[in-house]
Amino acid sequence: MIRRLRPDDLVVNVDVLTYAGNLENLQAISTTPGYHFVRADIRDQERVTAVLRQHGIEVIVNFAAESHVDRSVTSAEPFLDTNVGGTLRLLEAARTANVKRFVQISTDEVYGSLGSTGAFEETTPMAPRSPYAASKAAADHFVAAFHHTHGLDTVITRCSNNYGPYQFPEKLIPLMILNAFDGNALPVYGDGMQVRDWIHVEDHCEAIDLAVTRAPSGAVYNIGAENERPNLDVVRAILNLTGRDESLIRHVTDRPGHDRRYAMNAARIRRELGWSPRHDFERGLADTVAWYRANGPWCERVRSGAYRSYYSEQYAARLRVAGIDSEDVR
Ligand code: TYD
Repeated sequence: MIRRLRPDDLVVNVDVLTYAGNLENLQAISTTPGYHFVRADIRDQERVTAVLRQHGIEVIVNFAAESHVDRSVTSAEPFLDTNVGGTLRLLEAARTANVKRFVQISTDEVYGSLGSTGAFEETTPMAPRSPYAASKAAADHFVAAFHHTHGLDTVITRCSNNYGPYQFPEKLIPLMILNAFDGNALPVYGDGMQVRDWIHVEDHCEAIDLAVTRAPSGAVYNIGAENERPNLDVVRAILNLTGRDESLIRHVTDRPGHDRRYAMNAARIRRELGWSPRHDFERGLADTVAWYRANGPWCERVRSGAYRSYYSEQYAARLRVAGIDSEDVR
């Protein structure tokens, strides 16, 4: 269910629709008044400037990014182009079209990796370790530079790992859910004791709404729901919810440079903007499994030929080493 927090606002959704972009996800609001879709690339500064002027846009919220760490390991170039170059062009377009506020959706990964204790704070120095994280950190630096140099009103939000409906099944949770449905192997990288801090996508969206409407100019906010879990615990919970047993778990070759632990201190956004998450992780995970179960045709469509090639590039050799010769995603 898609809920519009501000139905009276004009929203222009700009998306170039690369592999994870999917108009079907927004079909429910596609014909509602005040919503427009424009297929455009954020790197096309002229086009974006024209769109901003045409609609009199006041706020840009930059969600556009290449976002998958494993893909950045295979090929970093698109991450530089879109995440850094695209953000820079959007910033320039924002200045040209006199946009009032620029909100950059960033990530906890800019901070690097934690040991077994502590949590990232907004003041933690950036220390990105994957090509993806490096591109997001570079983009954050450009946003801060435009704030300081050009006086652009900017806000940066850095969120922990999201889960929930409509997530593209290259990410841990939907990938494991769909493999479990199919009775296929669940490829756990390394020992599976890496820790991620999970937040439901709707809690993240509510935090972004507050950043758009209430944050002071130049602010940076961490967003996280204090749900730290080792990957293996998450995978086991998914097996439980799908009625599968642990024999499906396969420990496969680890991701190169794999960050061990992320944890967010989100005290600032709670204190200053009054945000708090509403979703309990266990309940949210069960609802997410139910959503994927109820949306089989959607899952089939997103796991198209391109997804199959990606899956086999990423996982076939790893699974072979773990004793599984061939397995197909449906
Ligand atoms: P992911 O969803 O890719 O998010 P991120 O890398 O941004 O945290 O991965 C979450 C965790 O799950 C991460 O520690 C890597 C691990 N993982 C696996 O063990 N197997 C997989 O097939 C995937 C996609 C991720």
